[in-house]
Amino acid sequence: MANITFRSPVMAKDVTLYAVAGERGSMLSLAKAHKIPIPFDCGDGECGSCLIEVTRIGEGEKMGVNMQEKEKEMLRQLGRISAAEIENAEVHDVPSRYRLACQYIVRNEDVLVCFEGDETLPAKRPAMSLAAGSYKGGLEITSVEMFLGYSIKVEEEAATHFDELGEAMENCGNTEIAKLFRQLAGYSRLHWQEAKARAGSKDVSGHMPQEHMWPRLETPEQTGLWAGDPAMSKRDALKAALQGEKNGFDFYHHIAQTARDPEIRALAKEFADEEIEHVAILERWIAGEETLLRSLEASC
Ligand code: FES
Repeated sequence: MANITFRSPVMAKDVTLYAVAGERGSMLSLAKAHKIPIPFDCGDGECGSCLIEVTRIGEGEKMGVNMQEKEKEMLRQLGRISAAEIENAEVHDVPSRYRLACQYIVRNEDVLVCFEGDETLPAKRPAMSLAAGSYKGGLEITSVEMFLGYSIKVEEEAATHFDELGEAMENCGNTEIAKLFRQLAGYSRLHWQEAKARAGSKDVSGHMPQEHMWPRLETPEQTGLWAGDPAMSKRDALKAALQGEKNGFDFYHHIAQTARDPEIRALAKEFADEEIEHVAILERWIAGEETLLRSLEASC
């Protein structure tokens, strides 16, 4: 019987499974059968989304393993296997520290399996929100200048919005949330600079949208929070910010899917991918905060 312990920031606590003989398929199928949330996509060693870190625990002889070429290649692309580890795997059948859960066959060996779903993994797209429907048909981006004009406006207003929220929270003494909003303002400012740099010498001023151009009369990344609430919890602030970032993703993603000009589609995709990173960061922060809150509740 193999004891397999799963650990992740997205789980409230470690979970140990006892894999009996009939259950020894892949680590991913074992995890799925027991609702352990290892991310996955292709299930076939092709996407890298099921990356896990495996540490052998307990006594007994270390078991050799024959790693498939495609798994080694994917780990190499993810920067999670060294040349020495590849040689060790090929010459001595010694498995590397990082593995793909869909390729890892569970054996009679006690192991700790850690997974994070962090930015080293291919980002999973967040589900489309209602905002996507609002933009559909409402905005047709017809030139690169127009796209950059809109992007500059979106990011500038998001940076200003988060800065205002940060200042309001500083004024009412909630320094932790103030710091968080300032950090989000910093992310938006970076995007803003990037959009301006992309515009370079192009004159995009004639393409800056007015407020009435937006379905909700405001740019998509704004959170719906305007005043400083001294009692706002970190979790609520993070959730509001997450919604803003998802709206930003929807905005760019919709353009990437619908613009006729391939250059606009490619630019929009780049911007959408960056928004995904922000969504992933916020989701991680929320999961961490919720884990902390649950452990505080449990200790009361
Ligand atoms: S799920 Fe795609 S590599 Fe494992």
